[in-house]
Amino acid sequence: MEASVMFDRTQYANVFKPVEQAETLPAWCYTSPDYYRAEVENMFMKVWNFFGHVDQVPNPGDYMTVTFAGVPLIIARGGDKVIRAFANTCRHRGAPVAQGEGNCSAFVCPYHSWTYGLDGTLRGCPGMEKTEDFRKEDNGLIELPLEVFGNFIFINFDENAEPLIDYLGDFPEIMGSYKLDNLRLTRKVTHDVACNWKVHIENAMEEYHLPTVHKATLDLKDMDHSSAPTSENWTDIREHHDEHTRALLMEDLAHELPHIPGLEGRAASGTNYVSLNPSTMLGMTLDCVWYLELQHNGPDHTRVIAGSCFPEETIARPDFEEKAQYYYKRWDKSLGEDNDIAAIQQQGLRSPFVRPGRLSHLEPLIPDLAQWWVTRTVPEN
Ligand code: FES
Ligand SMILES: [Fe+2]
Repeated sequence: MEASVMFDRTQYANVFKPVEQAETLPAWCYTSPDYYRAEVENMFMKVWNFFGHVDQVPNPGDYMTVTFAGVPLIIARGGDKVIRAFANTCRHRGAPVAQGEGNCSAFVCPYHSWTYGLDGTLRGCPGMEKTEDFRKEDNGLIELPLEVFGNFIFINFDENAEPLIDYLGDFPEIMGSYKLDNLRLTRKVTHDVACNWKVHIENAMEEYHLPTVHKATLDLKDMDHSSAPTSENWTDIREHHDEHTRALLMEDLAHELPHIPGLEGRAASGTNYVSLNPSTMLGMTLDCVWYLELQHNGPDHTRVIAGSCFPEETIARPDFEEKAQYYYKRWDKSLGEDNDIAAIQQQGLRSPFVRPGRLSHLEPLIPDLAQWWVTRTVPEN
């Protein structure tokens, strides 16, 4: 599709309607490399992006590398225990200075051995002594804004970013009773899915697909499905809610783990599926919290990382490992089904005959998310 069409806001008029009148995003939003580049430049480079849980780098010297929206990054915990984010780009001639994940005391560039400390400072640069006006202190790794909330890591590419707490808006208050600071990451799984990142997050934020995609998997009988799941548009966060009283398990509820103590309001009465826009889903339920972190570097491939977090007291129980397996099994099964349908949908979206579709009242957050994304990606004319 031509840029003059894709970046004309009037093309999206039907997205900016209530669900009963709205249409889906045009297919190019899911398939076009040019549209993806606009999302990166106009949206992902300016928002707080989610990078999982602090327990991925628990000890001083722990680091992991990620390429997100085309930007290679290092997330490392320093000797001072502070977690920092750096552009994984050598200040000499640009090679990435770290690969994979692990523990180290310094990053040594594989090209000419420039060496950087865990705080990004340039420590060693052999053969640079005759280079004029070269100062090590001006040549550390580029550090990016990183903040932690509720043990979750957020990175912004904009050095003038608003504080994370402002970006999160009413989330900390509304979901405060989960006491995220008391939850630990117990497991993380990674899947590569041939779909656009929006395909995956849309799936996570609607329940219309449950009786079809998960009919063989999810035990829905404890939930009240006589009425539609309710969705709430708070000022800054979006969530849909399922009323239920017992754990979300496929099999015997004897494997249920204790509820998170002190849950209040909607938190105490089921599961809240929260979208931290633009692209993160937190599943916040009675006994645990799980997340979907989406990493992408193009329009048609998404690395889906699912993390599960339980309260420290629950993890300390002697039966935790055994019972947690039943939770993991359920997530693996349902996530596998979501990944499969996402890849199938993406295939369909490549057809020249796809048209914007009409929506059910059972998926009210689909137009809501689309509005949030388009507002940031396509400037008004
Ligand atoms: S590119 Fe890193 S030391 Fe030369
Ligand atoms: Fe699903």
